[in-house]
Amino acid sequence: MPDAYGLFGFPVQHSWSPFIHGMFARQSGQDMSYRLFETPPERFRTDALAFFSGGGAGANVTLPHKRTAADLVNELTRRAQLADAVNTIVRRDEQLVGDNTDGAGLFADLTKNLQLHWDSPRILLLGAGGAARGAMEALLSLQPELLVIANRTVDRAIELATEFAELGPIAACEFSKLEHRRFDLIVNATSASLHGDVPLVPIDVVDSTTTCYDMAYGAGDTAFVAWAKRLGAARAEQGWGMLVEQAAEAFQLWRGVQPDTAPVLKALRQRAAMVARSPS
Ligand code: ATR
Repeated sequence: MPDAYGLFGFPVQHSWSPFIHGMFARQSGQDMSYRLFETPPERFRTDALAFFSGGGAGANVTLPHKRTAADLVNELTRRAQLADAVNTIVRRDEQLVGDNTDGAGLFADLTKNLQLHWDSPRILLLGAGGAARGAMEALLSLQPELLVIANRTVDRAIELATEFAELGPIAACEFSKLEHRRFDLIVNATSASLHGDVPLVPIDVVDSTTTCYDMAYGAGDTAFVAWAKRLGAARAEQGWGMLVEQAAEAFQLWRGVQPDTAPVLKALRQRAAMVARSPS
């Protein structure tokens, strides 16, 4: 019997994770299965525990269960504690360890795939929810001169900035206060793209030297990527690479093998382009 892995989420049918982990497994000759568990919130705990007591070897967790998963496991890694969320569960002996690979995925995408390197960059993080929190450590690893968190509800930005204040130079503000300010990197961690919206940020934050990165991804350009391109950003990228890299980090934890992400990312982009072209 192959070792069983899976993804718990709601909704989860359109997830690319089985495709990604399937390619990793074939590439490295791992005998494993990976399936989707469409689990509404009230069933998450029971279903996840049933999966592990039935021999499940590891799992990914996505919305809306990332926080609940932190209460399910026996132990949390430091980065899961910092993110206050779990996206990967590893079975170690008879213990469940909750980890979070999102930040590592973002960092690997920015530095390895996109080859973005700066000396003391000025970084703007849009959003202050779960996705933004998960990005904090990765962005601070870029050793910014300043990391500004801006959010529609400014109190949430202030709260997040205060929590991470000891880890680097962080400020918080509302969108309107961003006028006339310059950033090397702008990361969109709001859920606005999921609804085809762009946060109401003053347009002069983007110029021909700015790199814009949307943690969301879609078949065509996300609304944020299209907005950044219209404003003449130096680069405008979306989160396909982060998706593949966070999966690679989970795969490595489960199987002890570091998968080659480049061919998987290429295949994923090709598939996404096909979906974008196909008539709806
Ligand atoms: P997630 O786990 O995806 O981060 P979340 O915790 O609900 O989800 O956070 C969503 C984030 O997107 C928040 O920062 C939210 O701003 P508020 O805190 O003001 O609600 C932000 N967001 C969602 N839709 C937005 C929009 N249309 N414009 C700007 N920000 C938006």
